[in-house]
Order: sequence, then structure tokens, then C-alpha cells
Amino acid sequence: MSRTLFMCPPEYFDVEYAINPYMNLDVPVDKELAMRQWQTLKRVYEQLEARVFEMPAQPGLPDMTFAANCGHLEGDVFLQANFRYDVRKPEAGHAADFFQKQNRTVVTLPGDVIFEGQGDTIPYGKDALFMGYGKRTTKNAMKKLAGMSRKKVYPLALSNDKFYHLDTCFGPLNEDSVVVSRAAFGSEEIDLIESTFSDVIYTNEQDDLVLAPNLVVIGKTVVMGDGFSHELGKAIEQRGLKVEGVDLSEFLKSGGGAKCLTLEEC
Ligand code: ARG
Repeated sequence: MSRTLFMCPPEYFDVEYAINPYMNLDVPVDKELAMRQWQTLKRVYEQLEARVFEMPAQPGLPDMTFAANCGHLEGDVFLQANFRYDVRKPEAGHAADFFQKQNRTVVTLPGDVIFEGQGDTIPYGKDALFMGYGKRTTKNAMKKLAGMSRKKVYPLALSNDKFYHLDTCFGPLNEDSVVVSRAAFGSEEIDLIESTFSDVIYTNEQDDLVLAPNLVVIGKTVVMGDGFSHELGKAIEQRGLKVEGVDLSEFLKSGGGAKCLTLEEC
């Protein structure tokens, strides 16, 4: 069955505030290049036979192109995000309107539950998902997520500011193998990861600079931003997968990569 993905064009994308350590107001974004990079990523997904739907961008919301964060979409239910920072909060309502128009059921969260959507939810097989918390999403989102999801939810605490969403440091390739930034996690989380996956591939410093675990796997192809180490590329290929690198330099200036730009119906 082909995969259903949602993306939001970077029409208003820019770095206008700094809410993660990658964002630097002194480093300009090349907006035309960003648009071309985003279109290339979309084309790569389509060539891999994913169905990609566009969510309309909104003026004044420069991070809305990171569609993964607007909520968690599972079947016909959309669990709307509740962003940590005011600058991103309005994105969630726009995404909810979009999914409402598609006749999906929108579920909202109480104000004290912070939840940044699929930046912090990562499926494991068909029946489980991991939820990152501690930097953006709060731990109390776990109960709500477990309530709306048919999947078993495993929480993973994030303890390093550089890895503020789970998808910046944890990228399953399949049910056996996962790409992990070791520095993002404490020893309990590493134990859970190592007991779930038979094969954990740890990134090196170069990979972490480009958020290499921020990847999207379609069939046997791993789509990820360019700049990862030769070792990581080789390790992935040794597992029988093909690596499709896409230049996402402009999005990296905002702390995002391929996975952040993509919301998936799971
Ligand atoms: N500038 C955005 C933020 O800090 C980047 C979001 C990246 N998204 C992700 N799923 N990691 O919120």
C-alpha cells in the first residue's frame, strides 16, 4: 500500500526567532533555495510512490513547513499539537482546519499538555510507537496519546538541548535497525532502545551536526539530508537499504530535516 504524506511548502519559511540551538538570527536563509530543496524532497517521495498532499502555508508562521510538528495523524484521527512556544502555537489550528475539511476527527489537548506531534512520535512496526518528551512534548502527553492511539506507546526521555525532538536523534530503519544519537539519551533510554532493536547504529559527530537520524524510510530507500558521514551511509547500505541524500541545508538552519518536513498518516 502506498504511503500517505503531508507537506507544507516553505512559502513563508525563515529563521525569525531562535527556539533551538541550530537557529541563529545572523545566518540568512536562502528562501529560493529552500523552496527548490523542498520541491526536490517532495519529488523524491513521489518517485518512491508515496502520495504527497500539500497543506497550505500561512503568512507569519515561518516554521509551519515542518509539518511533522502540527500533530499526530493515525487513521482518521488527528491529535492536534499544542506547541511549547507561542510563536508556533497558531500552526496547530491551521492544520486542524485542514484535516477537519478532509473529514478527519480532530482531538485537542488541555493547555497543560504540550505535544509537538510527529516530531515526538515515531512508529515502531504497525502496533507500537515511541514518544519523546522532556524538551518540547511533556510527559503527560503520554496518557492522551495512548488514549487516542491503537498502538502501544513507549516513552523516551530527551535530556540534551541539541536533540529537542525525538526525530532529531532516533530514526528506525525497520523493526530491527535504528539510527541513534547516543548523546541525546540517558542510560535507561539506551537500555530500552537496545532491548527493542537487535541492531543499533550510533551516529558520529558529523552525523549529529546534520541531524542524520531525521530520516524517512520508504520501502527499501532511506531519505535523509545530505552531509551525513561516509560510515553512516555505508552502515545503512550494509543493511540492504539504499540511501537517497537530499540537500536540505536551508532547513538545517532552523534545526529541521527530511522527517520534520513530513507528516505521515500512520
Ligand atoms: N525551527 C523548528 C522548531 O524549533 C524546527 C522544527 C523541526 N521539526 C522536527 N520535527 N524536529 O520548532
